Amino acid sequence: MKIRTLGTSLDNLKDDVVVVGVFEGWGKTAGAAAEIDRATGGLIKAAKTDMTGRLYTTTMLYASDGLAARRVLVIGLGKKQDLTLDRLRGIAARAVLTARETGLHSAALPLQLAPGTAFEPSHRAAALAEGAQLGLYSFRHYKTALDNGNTKIFKQITISTGREHSSLVAAAVRNAEALCAGVCLARDLVNHPGNAATPTYLAETARRIAKTSGLSCTVFDEKKMRRLGMGALLAVARGSHEPARFIVLEHAPAQAARSAPVVLIGKAITFDSGGISIKPALNMEEMKTDMAGGAAVMGALQVCARMKLPLRVIGLIPATENLPGGSALKPGDIVKSMSGKTIEIITTDAEGRLILADALHFARRYKPQAVIDLATLTGACIIALGNDVSAVMGTSEPLIERLRKASDLSGEKIWPMPMHVEYDELIKSDIADIKNVGSRAAGSITAGCFLRKFTSGMPWAHLDIAGTAWAQQPKPYTPKGATGVGVRLLVQLLRTWQRLKP
Ligand code: BES
Ligand code: ZN
Ligand code: ZN
Repeated sequence: MKIRTLGTSLDNLKDDVVVVGVFEGWGKTAGAAAEIDRATGGLIKAAKTDMTGRLYTTTMLYASDGLAARRVLVIGLGKKQDLTLDRLRGIAARAVLTARETGLHSAALPLQLAPGTAFEPSHRAAALAEGAQLGLYSFRHYKTALDNGNTKIFKQITISTGREHSSLVAAAVRNAEALCAGVCLARDLVNHPGNAATPTYLAETARRIAKTSGLSCTVFDEKKMRRLGMGALLAVARGSHEPARFIVLEHAPAQAARSAPVVLIGKAITFDSGGISIKPALNMEEMKTDMAGGAAVMGALQVCARMKLPLRVIGLIPATENLPGGSALKPGDIVKSMSGKTIEIITTDAEGRLILADALHFARRYKPQAVIDLATLTGACIIALGNDVSAVMGTSEPLIERLRKASDLSGEKIWPMPMHVEYDELIKSDIADIKNVGSRAAGSITAGCFLRKFTSGMPWAHLDIAGTAWAQQPKPYTPKGATGVGVRLLVQLLRTWQRLKP
């Protein structure tokens, strides 16, 4: 799908439909709606009684003359005081989805869609562009010919700037396009089933995006992992015939090629059966999403390269299946991690922290400014925070604070969990250095405490995305299925990155 910015007046736009908005309790038309009324002699005003302005309600109007586009879609913006940039994303998505449902192929979204708001033009442009592209996402890879032939394919979005046209706005739309491509890459990877998105496939994808976006990529096979001593990652991989991969992606722009990087780490269990501590059958198919952290890191790295961010960023993706094969890891086993620490396995279903332990230790060699890991780590996180908010923990308050700012701007919500030393008691082992689970209490926090053991000396934050990686119900600009969570948050953080004070 194409997305462009145009300064042309609304009456001259040739898209299939022009979208305009009205707030709840509106009186006179304003902004884009007023411009349409001027061109059509009061098309919108004439239909006023039918349009309440309630959030997401839509009315399609037809202009007999005065408009090149002929159709106007009026969308309810809700209460004026409740409008946020994130809501604007949802409004844009709802509008273009309605257009697609109607069988249309293109739509114009004016910057003045929501009239009289204080948001900067470039921020409005980005919100509209993001909402439209993310809302229109659909995963059709496994739908066969019959369905591929249908007409519900959108071809073009025009961000119509009118008098607010500027190079800043055009750049914001281009950046939104790069960002959404990264989110959609992550969504695709997560939506693909476990038999397709294997560790080998993730490695091939990493190589492909490295080539097309200008990243460097190195992939370790199991032999190399053994040489490096990645005993915890290899222990998880033992239960499957699918070979494990450790993927390294690097964005090193010339001006920062040798500086200390920010390292992003993503859990990539391409299918989590639980291993010998096997999971119940109900909903087990959703465990193909257990590589969403890795997918987000790949998406974010692609965006860093396409946006040419002046910062060195490294992505580490430990990738393996967690299956109960004949050589599988067993409860009671003790494994030696790359750091040298020994880990007693209480349950083989707490595998994410094992592969992350080795990746976190590996990150040390880059002397990073900061390390951030993303993982669908604990079911307990869903119990605590639900499906709209990810958990954040870590050892660097300034880093967590920045993540929270990036969260507000990106719309990807996060909330902190505490990491008091008392929690460390819960994962002490009688016979090894540490055990891989505590009791049921504070499940997300003890997982975080486990990871913390492998981060000493590095400013570190951990995001538990177990609840947010998959949408069981569609959200305003996220269709059912993989959400691509993490990409927008990370990119927002990295776009405004300043060195953390020691
Ligand atoms: N991948 C799961 C966590 C998960 C659960 C992600 C639901 C997405 C949705 C993780 O590997 C796991 O199995 N965690 C266990 C830990 C427990 C055994 C301490 C869990 O949450 O049940
Ligand atoms: Zn598990
Ligand atoms: Zn898992």
